Amino acid sequence: MASHHSSSSVFTTFKLCFCLLLLSFIGMASAQLTTNFYAKTCPNALSIIKSAVNSAVKSEARMGASLLRLHFHDCFVNGCDASILLDDTSNFTGEKMAGPNANSVRGYEVVDTIKSQLEASCPGVVSCADILAVAARDSVVALRGPSWTVRLGRRDSTTASLSAANSNIPAPTLNLSGLISAFSNKGFNAREMVALSGSHTVGQARCTTFRTRIYNEANIDATFKTSLQANCPSSGGDNTLSPLDTQTPTTFDNAYYTNLVNKKGLLHSDQQLFNGGSTDAVVNTYRTRSTTFFKDFANAMVKMGNLSPLTGTSGQIRTNCRKTN
Ligand code: HEM
Ligand SMILES: *[C@@H]1O[C@H](CO)[C@@H](O)[C@H](O)[C@H]1NC(C)=O
Ligand SMILES: *[C@@H]1O[C@H](CO)[C@@H](O)[C@H](O)[C@H]1NC(C)=O
Repeated sequence: MASHHSSSSVFTTFKLCFCLLLLSFIGMASAQLTTNFYAKTCPNALSIIKSAVNSAVKSEARMGASLLRLHFHDCFVNGCDASILLDDTSNFTGEKMAGPNANSVRGYEVVDTIKSQLEASCPGVVSCADILAVAARDSVVALRGPSWTVRLGRRDSTTASLSAANSNIPAPTLNLSGLISAFSNKGFNAREMVALSGSHTVGQARCTTFRTRIYNEANIDATFKTSLQANCPSSGGDNTLSPLDTQTPTTFDNAYYTNLVNKKGLLHSDQQLFNGGSTDAVVNTYRTRSTTFFKDFANAMVKMGNLSPLTGTSGQIRTNCRKTN
């Protein structure tokens, strides 16, 4: 029995070393994230997350959009480290109060539900940052968009940055060059920026984010503008919602790009992608070739999920996504 144990532990050590060696090669290209990270430590992690996302999206389709956006707003601020999920404390103001997030980002309760199910099944194992990455993918799939394999092994931050959230998340007032540079700062080219913006094929925006466009801009369809003005007065009604994609607001498809060509982009930033500039061609490509959009979107999401993750012994696995341990 003892000899069986020691030989199996030698073998385990050998496997571990081999694995670490292999990881050190793969890691260089993929920021040390791996697709099978929880295979041994929490084999049901992916199915737990998928069921919870499916049930949340079933009761409210918009939640799929909200969970997708959570991952984006996490990753663009000091990497995909779940910093966006930290609540403010008496000592500390987190990212939830930042301009792009306050009164806007949602889905925190769904993440809490997922986290408590994972803690019940495998305590202290699955990071909040990985939950966001998997939930974003499962949301897109639930809304009938493309799928991709999520790399795992991100750990959670012990800090958050309100100022980084304010400066790194692109604003809807940006022009095309501002959008290109905000994404270029994170390593994305203009085509990838246009693909990721296709997320606005689902979800809603508040009147306050598009009022200037529907009262002051010329590159907007007249009928579209009039119908939006009915729900978004020139003053008041700041929180009234309109779909980002009026055609199919709860289906992840390429209709967003058709809207842009028809001057029916909701946000100023949306319409900037098709306004006589350098990205018109890629908008046309995605409008006419849904499979190209899906493929580029999936690849760009994998790339977004690789933004500066905490790995190894950096950070921690929070037991409650809202607080450090
Ligand atoms: C290109 C620059 C981008 C800008 C300027 C931008 C801006 C915005 C704004 C202003 C809203 C409405 C927020 C509100 O009214 O509360 C919104 C919603 C949304 N954004 Fe973006 N966004 C951008 C890129 C992205 C990316 C890259 C993703 C995902 C990968 C994304 C996903 C979403 C989703 C899904 C919603 C709807 C959320 C919901 O209904 O809860 N956006 N965005
Ligand atoms: C605030 O900071 C102090 C000193 O670092 C620490 O002891 C305390 O636990 C913190 N309070 C909260 C609510 O995090
Ligand atoms: C885009 O916005 C920036 C910053 O507001 C401004 O400096 C630049 O001139 C604008 N570019 C165009 C082409 O309008």
